[in-house]
Amino acid sequence: MEKFIINGGAPLHGEVEISGAKNAALPILAASILSQDVCVIENLPCSISDVNYMMKILAHIGAKVKLINKNTVEIDSRFVNSYVISHDMTKHLRASYYFIGALLGRYGRAKVAMPGGCYLGARPIDQHIKGFELLGASVSVEDNATVDAKASKLIGSPIYLDMVSVGATVNILLAAVKAEGLTVIENAAKEPHIVDLANFLNSMGADVRGAGTDVIKVRGVEQLHGCNYSIIPDQIEAGTYMVAAAATHGNVIIKNVIPKHLESISKKLIECGAEVEEFDDAVRVSLDRRPGKCNIKTMPHPGFPTDMQPQMAVLLALADGTSIVSESIWSNRFRYADQLNRMGADIKADGQLAVVQGVEQLKGAPVKADDLRAGAAMIIAGLAASGTTEIEDILHIDRGYEDVVEKLKGIGADIKRVFCPEPNSLTNAG
Ligand code: EPZ
Repeated sequence: MEKFIINGGAPLHGEVEISGAKNAALPILAASILSQDVCVIENLPCSISDVNYMMKILAHIGAKVKLINKNTVEIDSRFVNSYVISHDMTKHLRASYYFIGALLGRYGRAKVAMPGGCYLGARPIDQHIKGFELLGASVSVEDNATVDAKASKLIGSPIYLDMVSVGATVNILLAAVKAEGLTVIENAAKEPHIVDLANFLNSMGADVRGAGTDVIKVRGVEQLHGCNYSIIPDQIEAGTYMVAAAATHGNVIIKNVIPKHLESISKKLIECGAEVEEFDDAVRVSLDRRPGKCNIKTMPHPGFPTDMQPQMAVLLALADGTSIVSESIWSNRFRYADQLNRMGADIKADGQLAVVQGVEQLKGAPVKADDLRAGAAMIIAGLAASGTTEIEDILHIDRGYEDVVEKLKGIGADIKRVFCPEPNSLTNAG
């Protein structure tokens, strides 16, 4: 077991480089098996554990996965030889279910155990299944544990999503690119990672149009080929460093970003009194006084991202005044509030609403990362707090933040990763 120890209070200063986007990388890795060829994927955040698990699944079903350098991987999908993925492989992450769409697209058959991932409330997959069925697959869920999908032939279809779902949009795209005829996904997700996936599929010879709008049209093609592709920068990692800069009253240039993807975050930081300066592929964030309050409502893109809600709540916890945070995507994304309150914050969360009464100072405390973004919030809180914060369960943070200790140290943070023995592995000397 490992934990982070942070001595807080120092403003962050300097420059930090953002990695490739996790939530683009995961569907793109699954999509690579649609090509039966070689894909070279660049700007891949190879050291985060979600990406690692996806590469393990690829190898498990027969793909040859070769690390070319720290952030480039070559995937040879010619040797993929199985459509079965067991729970041992899928349990670590949500995105393992992208192999249902990808294997259906490749083989017309997928037998994939239910995914793991952050607990944020109920995470049904009814829209994924509806999409597969409309494309002509028959889908059963065995013992609530394994999705078995089969189709002698996938045929394009209009598909209307009952709610905007990133995962369902991805999975339907993966199954539809090689289906016969036209698929139209209405009420599709518009996140930057959906556009990146569509661009990757098109680089392999697919015909996907409209990604980034709520109507995506896919004209099926018979075959896809290999390609070289570079993943977009991670919007949420960038946003996390932006908030960390503001919360510590720092001044940080965040490099390798697409400022347009950060607009909803920049606007809220500006509302709180931060300065946000945009460059071609960088943003500079600074704040030299106590943040002001502001209200947040999470929405699908281009709204304020739910994956930035916990981090932003840390800034609001330190704000002058009371802010309301309304979570409209997930039913249980305020578990971090108890942890922040242990550090002196005053957050009252009820259902999908939280009232954040700003305090002047947070104080270091032992806390834990309940999930990935809750963990990011704990890091920001620890950096902004006086004294020492110890964060446990950092495996959640390792799922999505590449080189987080090194990057934070590079901008002046006092943070280290330490190994601590599991409580039950300690021998009782008495
Ligand atoms: C993706 O999850 C992201 N994960 C999440 O990021 C992110 O919070 C979420 O999109 C929203 O932006 C990945 O990209 C791997 P959804 P996903 O399907 O696809 C409901 C992070 O921290 N729904 O868009 O699972 C669902 O319950 C992670 O990086 C159904 O009801 O989210 C939710 O309320 C955490 N039926 C809403 O839709 C379905 O079939 C949006 O979920 C599918 C979804």
